[in-house]
Amino acid sequence: MTSDKGSFQQGLQQGNPGLPVPPDEEGFWVSSRNLERLGRAASRADRGEQVNVLVRGPKGCGKTTLARVFAARWARPFYEVHCGAFVDAEQWFGKDRLNGGETWYRKARFIHAVETPGCVVLLDEINRAHPEVLNAILGLLDWRRSMWSDDLTYEVGVAPGVVFFATINEGEEFYGVNPLDAAIRDRFPRTVRLDYPPRREEANILRAHGLSLRLSEKLTDFAHTLRTAGRPVHVSTRQLLVAAEEICEGASLREAVETSVIFGIDDVSLEKVALQALQWIEEDPSLAQVNES
Ligand SMILES: Nc1ncnc2c1ncn2[C@@H]1O[C@H](COP(=O)(O)OP(=O)(O)OP(=O)(O)O)[C@@H](O)[C@H]1O
Ligand SMILES: [Mg+2]
Repeated sequence: MTSDKGSFQQGLQQGNPGLPVPPDEEGFWVSSRNLERLGRAASRADRGEQVNVLVRGPKGCGKTTLARVFAARWARPFYEVHCGAFVDAEQWFGKDRLNGGETWYRKARFIHAVETPGCVVLLDEINRAHPEVLNAILGLLDWRRSMWSDDLTYEVGVAPGVVFFATINEGEEFYGVNPLDAAIRDRFPRTVRLDYPPRREEANILRAHGLSLRLSEKLTDFAHTLRTAGRPVHVSTRQLLVAAEEICEGASLREAVETSVIFGIDDVSLEKVALQALQWIEEDPSLAQVNES
């Protein structure tokens, strides 16, 4: 993957030392199409244009990591907020702190981030935020790129090249999420749609975590079978990585899949389907013969 680092290096070096460039996650797989999309976003940001990217996809498919990987590979400082943790709108800007019996107002790191040139600011799980909380920062997300803060008593401006990422989880199993407000959706005109990596790539991810080829393929076959079932069970890459960890710690295939997937399924009929798929990969002789590593 190439990095378009040119004109921002100077600004980044002068950036906020509390917001470092994150380390790259080398094994993180991104499709070439999505890489190209991200490359175009980075180029626009390098020209100082505003770029807001919405990342959507099923649970545990790498949405949050993608934003961090973008920052790492294009050498930008990174800051992430979990939108569900915001209970009131003032939190975006700062809050009162008590120090030695005295109260003083401390500016939020979120504001430091939006004022840092080239920073990647992730609004994670944006559909878990209360709409009123998000309304408080609409001005930062649209063409205005600035808004007055009564608490800070100045006009907060978004620094050149700041890239806002927002993630949303898709899937009927998510409760407690708000439909994405039209005003917010409108401010994220670029969407990256993620899905679980293709089987081969996902097996490579598991292998990179120390699992044998044979077991990696069994796990990805298990996941693929359930994801494409009539009533799908959304087995995430994260769950497969947990299964791989369990196996590497000495668990059997069955124990690992029970721990990472099956015991977490609430629906009895889906649990039954998952158990059948598990039995299938345990018994499948073709995988064992052909792919033993
Ligand atoms: N394409 C991928 N390549 C390598 N690892 C991946 C990939 N996708 C997900 N993972 C791994 O799976 C785990 C979950 O990733 P992440 O938290 O980014 O997913 P998410 O989509 O944000 O999850 P959630 O829906 O729970 O918010 C991480 O350990 C991540 O490294
Ligand atoms: Mg996430």
